[in-house]
Amino acid sequence: MRKPGHAIDTLFTDRWSPRSFTAEAMPEATLLQMFEAARWAPSSYNYQPWRFLYALRDTPAWPTFLGLLTDVNQVWAFRASALVFVLSDSRVMRPGNDMPVDSYTHVFDSGLAYAQFALQATRMGWITHCMQGFDKERSYAELKVPHDLRINAVVAVGRQAGPEQLSEALQAREKPSDRRPLGDLVCCGTMPDSWRSPAAP
Ligand SMILES: Cc1cc2nc3c(=O)[nH]c(=O)nc-3n(C[C@H](O)[C@H](O)[C@H](O)COP(=O)(O)O)c2cc1C
Repeated sequence: MRKPGHAIDTLFTDRWSPRSFTAEAMPEATLLQMFEAARWAPSSYNYQPWRFLYALRDTPAWPTFLGLLTDVNQVWAFRASALVFVLSDSRVMRPGNDMPVDSYTHVFDSGLAYAQFALQATRMGWITHCMQGFDKERSYAELKVPHDLRINAVVAVGRQAGPEQLSEALQAREKPSDRRPLGDLVCCGTMPDSWRSPAAP
């Protein structure tokens, strides 16, 4: 269904974010394979600032994790097999320093790790759906995360089910989305005026 404008590995277009999950149990070892793929992501100074907190469905931590999602995400994510909070450490120990300093790249680095996680899941026949819709304040408190780590997103992981079990509104959205043309996104040389936000001077 998805047509790339240039030849790329089908893994990139095969990955998308369905909302209909089978609610099946997932072996912890399978999830660990996805974390292993994330572990090999590049990062500034190879500092590897990403951290992952996870709960498998039907385990004691599951209700806490699910309860941190916004209602609009809970209505479909409750059928996932695992929920993963993606954190990053905002403090980095630079080579030769004895005190950590603020990291410029920790969010970027953890996004790279998530991308590798998601692609590994796709390769293994699982689906992922990343979410920013979660209660930030309660997540820091209930997951006991100090504020020098940033909670960036939550990921629902599972197996894909048919769309019938979703609401009509969500069924209508249960299909791979397209992308802007490459020409809108890349430019050889300095930034084109078309990228300026209308509000910017
Ligand atoms: C950081 C991030 C946050 C997102 N938050 C939500 C969310 O809260 N709820 C949701 O339904 N989808 C969420 N999404 C999924 C995006 O809407 C989806 O990735 C995007 O529309 C592209 O579609 P695709 O992943 O199927 O290719 C999020 C994705 C990312 C990367």
